[in-house]
Amino acid sequence: MPARLDAPMKVTGDAKYAMDHNFPGMAYGYVVVSTIAHGEIESMDVTATKSAPGVLEVYSPFDPLALGPVSTPMFGETWVPLRDKEVTYAGQPIGFVVAETFEQARDAAMLVGVSYRELPALTSLVDGLDTAVAMAPGHVDEPPELTVLEEGVSSIEEAFAASAVVVDATYRTAAQNHVPMEPHSAVAVWEAGELTVYSGNQGAHLPALELSMALGLEPSAVRVVNPFVGGAFGGKGQTSAPAFLAAAASRRLGRPVKASLTREQVFTATAGRAATVQQITLGADRDGTLIALRHDSWCSTDIAGSFIEPTSHGTSRKWYATRNLAISQKIVPLHLPPTTYMRAPGEAPGSFALESAMDELAEALGMDPIELRRRNNSLAPPGRDLPWSSKHLDECFRIGADRFGWAGRTPGGRADGDWLVGMGVAVAMFPAQRFPASVGITLNADGTVDVQTGGADPGTGLLTVLSLVGAESLDIAADRIRPRIGDSALPPGGMSAGSTATASAGTAIMAGAAQVIGELLTLAASPGAPFAGEEVTYADGRVHGQGHTMTFGEVLRATGRPGLTAVGSSAPGEEMTKRSFSSFGAQFVEVRVHRLTREARVSRMLGVFDGGRIINHQTARNQLMGGMIWGVSAALHEGFEIGVGEVRGRVANADLAGYLIPVNADIPDIDVHFVEYPDTLHNDLGARGLGEIGTVGVAAAVANAIHNATGIRVRHIPIRIEDLL
Ligand code: MOS
Repeated sequence: MPARLDAPMKVTGDAKYAMDHNFPGMAYGYVVVSTIAHGEIESMDVTATKSAPGVLEVYSPFDPLALGPVSTPMFGETWVPLRDKEVTYAGQPIGFVVAETFEQARDAAMLVGVSYRELPALTSLVDGLDTAVAMAPGHVDEPPELTVLEEGVSSIEEAFAASAVVVDATYRTAAQNHVPMEPHSAVAVWEAGELTVYSGNQGAHLPALELSMALGLEPSAVRVVNPFVGGAFGGKGQTSAPAFLAAAASRRLGRPVKASLTREQVFTATAGRAATVQQITLGADRDGTLIALRHDSWCSTDIAGSFIEPTSHGTSRKWYATRNLAISQKIVPLHLPPTTYMRAPGEAPGSFALESAMDELAEALGMDPIELRRRNNSLAPPGRDLPWSSKHLDECFRIGADRFGWAGRTPGGRADGDWLVGMGVAVAMFPAQRFPASVGITLNADGTVDVQTGGADPGTGLLTVLSLVGAESLDIAADRIRPRIGDSALPPGGMSAGSTATASAGTAIMAGAAQVIGELLTLAASPGAPFAGEEVTYADGRVHGQGHTMTFGEVLRATGRPGLTAVGSSAPGEEMTKRSFSSFGAQFVEVRVHRLTREARVSRMLGVFDGGRIINHQTARNQLMGGMIWGVSAALHEGFEIGVGEVRGRVANADLAGYLIPVNADIPDIDVHFVEYPDTLHNDLGARGLGEIGTVGVAAAVANAIHNATGIRVRHIPIRIEDLL
């Protein structure tokens, strides 16, 4: 069995993604987007579009599709296209052209004439800081401000005044987009009043629910299918514009409709990561003990303020054992594309600021950066009583320092020919969570087992986890497990989000396996069955009685059953009242900055992670490498460039030529190492999340390494050549 079940299908092209589905009579939709950042659409001239070859229908706010509002308990309101004439960012979906072919739809879409009543637009976070507002309650489950002071201290300022060393600096991070390889797309098919939508997502039940709301259908009338997902990272949680539009247009036309965003549209017609500004003040004793930590954050949001990048909250939930802590979080609504969850939301940009500041403090103290972090190791989240269930961050640093040769680092870096070489470290943390999840387990008479859930595998390895945990729980070989995911007709499998899927689905599999084994034993010992009246046990895929055994397949065949099914469920429970849960890691980066050209190259990377039990080393390592590469990307490459003047608010680099991401030549061999301590206080499986932590801390480690190499402290990302002159 391959280490990664989906790999052969993906590399041979057998994997069928949403857009690979074709149906007789299918029509093609093309999304029309706004060209201004703020205003109202006064009129849309679609005469030429309608008479263009092959065009079937043109939908707009003036001729809308019947789509209703969508709001779910988990994600709040989800924006639904064509419901009003207000434009709040450039690149917002404002129309949908459906034609016989994709090319015809695209050509006709170019003929749409839009006139706007344009309004002033605010499109820069830095320009908008004056307009910042405290985040509205209800956005995240924590208050916008939090202060924890030790007894006898009346304000955070007082704690800084009592600190021997204080560092204070402001950091900025750029807005980003997930840019998944597979653009947001959908194929919608109606049959007898029921809708099936093929569309990549992070868990089929959420888009199924959202589509049913928008279309005014019973949830049971909508099925969402997503066997393969070409990258998601938080950007495919909520239902995409093409899915809403294809579904509604298909209903109107009575034909299947296929629609996809273009690469350029993915940058605006979805949602991305907020830009942030963060001020951090650290106060410490001479020996490095933190006395006070303040983290004030501002993040961009869309005009509706629908998502907050919780950079400060990351600090309050984890990190350091400071005696005094003050955080605040403000939002700056801008006329830019919406913001949403993006891999390690909060922690990714938050750790750039906090872990850069810790490096600045280490320098001010003349202390080794690892030693400073060890000294302030937290045993529980600041201000909370619940200790970490399992934390081996010290070991991550110890092993990491050895493997990386940290002892060879000198305060001023070193030179190697024309290259200035430096090393940097940072802490990585990401909360360990679970979502409610259900998994169906069916023992089949032919000796195979179906393990099925509606969850998604956007490259995370869930499919393989299903087979490995299924095999272990049923005590059989993994090649007898037939895992199935990516279909809302299967038991609701939680989401591939929040680094929760393995822990959530894995625990549900264990529960389901125990149930189905119980049912098998009852069946085997029932009157007329092969073990009637006997004491029976289960091991090795077999029922054991008094002096004889049978495989479960034999028992099912002997009792005339085609199969036996149980649905196992799991959800966060009592453990939440007893412990705090987080994954931890230590990031090590070496950079080389050219003495003359000033280009910065990451030359070595190591991440050592404490994520509980590792179920599958290959997929776990894949996840962490991907996250670490993303960290390099954030540090040196990625960021929206927003147009000014005539093109105010447009994403000027909305393609993969202008929106820089690392290529292979930018990335060295990456060393990923695990310290493996199963965390059975978190869940029975012992696994904690690994999906997001890989990127956390990397940008700071890069910036810290650049400082070590050059003496230049850059307090914003991405760091470019011009910052190092
Ligand atoms: Mo993630 S940002 O929860 O997909």
